[in-house]
Amino acid sequence: MRNDIAAAVDAALAEVAAASSAASLAGLSGSVVGKKSPLGQLKSKLGSIGDIDERKALGQALNDAMRAVEAAIATKRAECESAELEAQMASEGVDLTERIAPSRRGRTHLVTQATQRLEDVFVGLGFQVAEGPEVESDFYNFEALNMPKSHPARSMWDTLFVESAEPGSVVLRTHTSPVQIRVMQEWPPPIYAVMPGRVFRRDTPDATHMPVFHQIEGLVIDRNITFRDLAGTIEAFTKAFFGADFTSRLRPSYFPFTEPSAEFDIRRANGSWIELGGCGMVHPNVLRAGGLDPEEWSGFAFGFGIDRMAKERHSIDDIREMYTNDLRFLRQFS
Ligand code: DAH
Repeated sequence: MRNDIAAAVDAALAEVAAASSAASLAGLSGSVVGKKSPLGQLKSKLGSIGDIDERKALGQALNDAMRAVEAAIATKRAECESAELEAQMASEGVDLTERIAPSRRGRTHLVTQATQRLEDVFVGLGFQVAEGPEVESDFYNFEALNMPKSHPARSMWDTLFVESAEPGSVVLRTHTSPVQIRVMQEWPPPIYAVMPGRVFRRDTPDATHMPVFHQIEGLVIDRNITFRDLAGTIEAFTKAFFGADFTSRLRPSYFPFTEPSAEFDIRRANGSWIELGGCGMVHPNVLRAGGLDPEEWSGFAFGFGIDRMAKERHSIDDIREMYTNDLRFLRQFS
C-alpha cells in the first residue's frame, strides 16, 4: 500500500505541475484528493487492514500525502493567479509613464518673478496694483508731474519720442510715475497703489543699463500723510522683501514731482549699501493735476528699478544677460 500511496502522490503532483490555469487547478483538487481520486480510494481501503498499528501508520501516511498534494495545488494556484493578473494588467493597463515623464515646462522670467514678489509684498501691506500705458503723452510723462514744457528737469530722462502729428507730444514713458496721475484721476482717495511696468530710455546698453527696463511706482494718498509714513513704509517694505537683516535709509535729493524728495538705499546683510530708487511727498501741483485738493489730501510716492533688484538678488554681473534669452542662463532661475 505504501508504494500505491507514493505512486498516487507522484501522479497527482505531475498533474498539478502540468496544470496551466488557476481555473483548471480548482477542478483538479477534486480529482486528485477527492473521495474518488486514487488517494481517496486508498483511504477507503484502510478499513480492511487488520493490524491497528499498521492501519494508523498508513492512515497518517495517507493524510500527509493528501496535505502535500493540497499544498502543491495551493502554491501552483497562487503562481497561476499572479501570472494571470500580470498578463491581464499588461493587456488592459494604460501606460502612464509616458505622461509622467518630465515635460519641458516654461517658467516665468527673472524680472516677472521679481515683479510678482514685489506685488505680493505690497498687497500684503494693503496696496492695490494698477497699470498704465507704455506709450504716453507728454502731459502724463512730464507736465502733470510738475515739469512744464522746457523745464530743465526733463533732461533727467533721456526720452524716446514716438512720431506723431504734433512732434514731441507722444513718448515711450521714461518712468512709471505717469501712472500716479492716471490713478489719481480714476480712483477716489484714499489711494494705496503700486504700479509696475516697462519703461524706456535712450541709453546704450552696458552691464548696468538697458534702454528698456522695469520700474515699480508706489502712491499713497490719504489725509494727514507725513514723511514718517513714507520712511516707515520704505522700511517695512525693505524688511518684508529682502529679510529682517536688511534696513533702509533716505538721502535728500531732488525730483520735480515730490517735495521734499529723497533717494532711498538699502543696506545688505554684509553692511554695504545699494541705491534702490527715489521717493518723496507728492508735490501740490501733482495732486492738482490728478484732480485732488492739496488742502485736503496729502501723500507720498516712490519708484524704483525692478531689474536691478533681480540682478542683486541673483548676483548677476551683467544686466544684459537677462535679455539675451539664452535658455541655459534663464533655466538657472526657477
Ligand atoms: N520716476 C523717478 C525715476 O524714474 C523715480 C521716482 C522718484 C519716483 C521719486 C517717485 C518719486 O514716485 O517720488 O527716476
